[in-house]
Amino acid sequence: MPSPDPYIKPADTDTGVPAGRPELSLAPMQDVTDWAFWKLMSEYGGPDIYFTEYFRVTPTYRLSGEILKSIRENPTGRPAIAQVIGNDIPALVRTARELQKMDIVGVDLNLGCPAPVVYKKIAGGGLLLYPDKVRDILKALRDAIDIRFSVKTRIGFDSTSRYEDFLQIFAEAGIDCLTIHGRTVKEMYRSSVDYDRIRTAVQVMPCPVWANGNIYSAEKADRVYRHTGAAGLMIGRGAIRNPWIFDQIRDFYAGRTQFTPTGADVLNYIYRLCEAVTTPEAQPNRRVHHLKKYMNFIGLGIEPQEQFLHRIRRAENLNEFFAICREFMDHGRPMNLTPFAPESLSDSDVVAGCHL
Ligand SMILES: Cc1cc2nc3c(=O)[nH]c(=O)nc-3n(C[C@H](O)[C@H](O)[C@H](O)COP(=O)(O)O)c2cc1C
Repeated sequence: MPSPDPYIKPADTDTGVPAGRPELSLAPMQDVTDWAFWKLMSEYGGPDIYFTEYFRVTPTYRLSGEILKSIRENPTGRPAIAQVIGNDIPALVRTARELQKMDIVGVDLNLGCPAPVVYKKIAGGGLLLYPDKVRDILKALRDAIDIRFSVKTRIGFDSTSRYEDFLQIFAEAGIDCLTIHGRTVKEMYRSSVDYDRIRTAVQVMPCPVWANGNIYSAEKADRVYRHTGAAGLMIGRGAIRNPWIFDQIRDFYAGRTQFTPTGADVLNYIYRLCEAVTTPEAQPNRRVHHLKKYMNFIGLGIEPQEQFLHRIRRAENLNEFFAICREFMDHGRPMNLTPFAPESLSDSDVVAGCHL
């Protein structure tokens, strides 16, 4: 592993990103980007800024639980933003006020979650059907939040017809940063990403805009950066698959040779992931089950015939699991971890669809 970039922190920004490259964040990913995963990412170089998984704010909600550990014991040495999701204004305001007393640089409102269990309750992406409600939530949160207040959203619910209206709502609310995942809520993770609409947001918004969706390599990051003009790039699944990605992007912009992992490096990453995110005390089959969640994303970069993914999903214990991993990765050849688009998977599969 190359040594991480020295972390430069000029006085005028939160994250200290040198000029000439986009700010880099690790996307919030429920049940993935927890304290242990943040720590592991930071050991591979990590992003400039981390987002927590979302705090699900309901009328009776009180801050508690594992997500707080990421803030209280932030293991990354870099700034964190707390993400909230919900639609109850007093509860959101109360939660945001409590959060901003903690060691975070910002509060982010989730307006994009596509899980039916969330959007049907008019939270996350479901709020994109209710512009007036969004306006009210943003106003109340803007009044309550003194630190950076950002929104993470998509380009619409089931169509993009109100996209510009929402940009205007965000602009009028005076948010400090907007992250756009260039798909509608209904497109989940399946369609190609609409970088043109992200560029439109960059052009019309008075605040920095971050681009999100299908960024899986330094070259792709640069294409998105140039095409959209975004101030920052947010990376989710690409970082699960390739934890070197943030340093590769830094190397790209610094004109340095990018580190390319070998099969053995990727294998080692999977061993470290297992150590980080599962506990030896857990039932062995539970450990494998838990690891498979990450392998769905990693598997797309291992080999394009889907054999690896197919077999790893059927592994029943850790021995079997790592025997399959060794078969595909115990070698010194470079692996660029570029994802392929799986053809045999049904539409409902978590990794079906367009990844490039
Ligand atoms: C497993 C998983 C969990 C996610 N959880 C969240 C979340 O809690 N909050 C959020 O705003 N987005 C969430 N997302 C969406 C990601 O932040 C990101 O917008 C999306 O994955 C597209 O970026 P990518 O192509 O770089 O992965 C999640 C995505 C995945 C795959």
